[in-house]
Amino acid sequence: SSVYRAGALGTRPWVPVAPVRLERAARRAMSRRAWAYVAGSAGTEATAAANRAAFDRWHLVPRVLRDVATRDLSTEVLGRHRDTPLVLAPMGAMGLVRGDADVAVARAAAAAGVPYVASTQASAPMEETARAVDGAEWWFQLYWSKDDELVTSLVRRAEAAGASALVVTLDTHVLGWRARDLDLGHLPFARGEGIAQYTSDPVFVDLVRRRAAAAVASGPRPRPTPAALATLASIARRHPGRSFAERLRSPLPRAAVETFLDVFSRSDLTWDHLAWLRERTRLPIVLKGIQHADDAERALDAGVDGVVVSNHGGRQVDGAVGALDALPAVVARVDGRVPVLFDSGVRGGADVAKALALGADLVGLGRPWAYGLAVGGSEGVDEVLRNVLAELDLTMALVGVRTVRDLRDDDVLVPATGR
Ligand code: FNR
Repeated sequence: SSVYRAGALGTRPWVPVAPVRLERAARRAMSRRAWAYVAGSAGTEATAAANRAAFDRWHLVPRVLRDVATRDLSTEVLGRHRDTPLVLAPMGAMGLVRGDADVAVARAAAAAGVPYVASTQASAPMEETARAVDGAEWWFQLYWSKDDELVTSLVRRAEAAGASALVVTLDTHVLGWRARDLDLGHLPFARGEGIAQYTSDPVFVDLVRRRAAAAVASGPRPRPTPAALATLASIARRHPGRSFAERLRSPLPRAAVETFLDVFSRSDLTWDHLAWLRERTRLPIVLKGIQHADDAERALDAGVDGVVVSNHGGRQVDGAVGALDALPAVVARVDGRVPVLFDSGVRGGADVAKALALGADLVGLGRPWAYGLAVGGSEGVDEVLRNVLAELDLTMALVGVRTVRDLRDDDVLVPATGR
C-alpha cells in the first residue's frame, strides 16, 4: 500500500509503472542490440503474443464483503517459507543491458525477498552474485553442456556457493530462430556477453587453454570449429564490413568463444540422463520448459522436485501454445506431488494472481525486470518487483482473498467466455 499511497500523493515514480511505458522507457535506455535481444522472440513472435492472449482468456471475479483487511503473500514451496510467490526468471547476457547487471539484479531480488536465479549465461560468475544476495536465497539455472565434466563442475560450484535449487532449462538445447538478433548480425553469446560462468570455470578454462595452444601450434590462422565457422559466416554475410573475428584476434578469447559454442548444450539428452544428474547433486532439481502433461509425468518419474511451465517467453518455438494455456493440464497431472512454477508473459500483479489461481505455486517474472534494470539499475529492478507485488496485494484485496492459497481454492477465476 505504500507504493500506491506514494503514487496517489503525487510522488511520481521514476521507473514507469504501466507495463507499456516501462517497455518504452527501457527501449530508449538500451542499445539496439540489447533491445533486440531482450524484447525479441522467435520467428514472427506469435508465441510471445499467445502468451499475452492466454492471460486475456481468463477473468478474475471480484468477491465482496469478505474481510480482507490483512493479506498474506507468503507461501511455502520447495520446503521453504517464502515472503512472496515470485521468483526472478533467469535471464542471460544481461551485461548487454548494463555493465554491473547480474550483481545489481541479485541485490535487488534479495532486498525484495524474491529468489534470484543465476543463469548459466550470466555476465557475472555465480560466486559474485551469491555474495551480492548476502545470505538470501538464490538458485542456479543450468544449461546442460556437452561436456560432462563441465556440467559437474557448474553444479559443484552452485552447491559450494550456496544455491538452494537447480533449475535445468530443457527448451533451449539449440537457440530459437531469433529474427531480430539475426537481422542485427548479433549472437550475444558468440560475442562473449554471456559466458562469465564458463570463463570462471576451471574445467572450461582448461578446455580453452588446450584449444588456444592447438591454435597457436597450427600457425597464425587458428582453425575454428564447424559451429563457430557457421556463426562467423552468418554474421559476416549480413555485415560484410564488420568482422566479428577482428574482435577475437588473439587466440585465447577466440578459443573461449569457440569452446563455448562447442560445449554450450546437447540435443541428444533424454529422460535417462536425468538419473545421471540426480546422482550428482542433492539440490532440488526443477525442470524448466515443461509444456505437456505427459512430460510433467515423466519428470515426476525421474524424481525431480519441481517443474516450470514456460515457453521461454516465446523465444524458442514460434507458433507454440501460450504458456498459461499449458498450465492447467500440467497442474492437474502433477496434482500437488511437486511444485509447479510458471513464467512467460507475466507483466503485472494481476497476471501473477491469475497464474496462482490456475495452480502455479511460484510465478517467474521475466522481461519486466530486465526493463527495470535498463531504466534504473538495481533500484529499477527493485521498483519493478515492488510494483508487481503491490499490484498483486491490491488484486487479492479486491477479488476478496487473503492468501495465495485462497486465490486457487476460492472461486475467483473464470474463462473469459463465461460459464
Ligand atoms: C531468457 N530466458 C532464459 N531462461 C533460462 O533458463 N536461462 C537463460 O539464460 C535465459 N535467458 C533469457 C534472456 C532473455 C533476454 C529473456 C527475455 C529470457 C527465459 C526466461 O527465464 C523466462 O522463461 C522468460 O523471460 C519468460 O517470458 P517473459 O515473461 O519474459 O516474456
